[in-house]
Amino acid sequence: MTTVLVLNGPNLGRLGSREPDVYGSGTLEDLRGVLEAEASGFTLDLRQTDDEATLIGWLHDAVDARSPVVLNPAAFTHYSYALRDAAALVTKAGLLLVEVHISNPHAREEFRHTSVISAVATGVIAGFGFDSYVLALQLVKRRLG
Ligand code: DQA
Repeated sequence: MTTVLVLNGPNLGRLGSREPDVYGSGTLEDLRGVLEAEASGFTLDLRQTDDEATLIGWLHDAVDARSPVVLNPAAFTHYSYALRDAAALVTKAGLLLVEVHISNPHAREEFRHTSVISAVATGVIAGFGFDSYVLALQLVKRRLG
């Protein structure tokens, strides 16, 4: 069975207590529960790290295992060329990479309006809370056929 990697970048381990007005009151474990309910026909592997190198390593793993990726790069979205290059490895390998955001970065501070990831992602879903991930998973499911 295909494994879908749901990868989360820095500070997303703090969901629930981090700026609940922006990100809601659900924790990362709540997100896991929501997404596990969607996981039929594939295996879900949800991970979070605050470390850029670890996140890059997970994208390399996705290429090697041929796993589609749902990626919330968090603040790395806005400046990490290293993460962008790793994300490009995924899509250049013909694998889906959906960039997701809980909030709508375009409705927030100006530095959040730039994503260095989007141009190498398959597509982007942002602004729908945890539903951004749900929509991304549904899309991956559809594309897996
Ligand atoms: C975020 C948006 C980013 O700007 C921010 O740095 C995050 C979370 C989101 O999911 O809305 O950490 O990616």
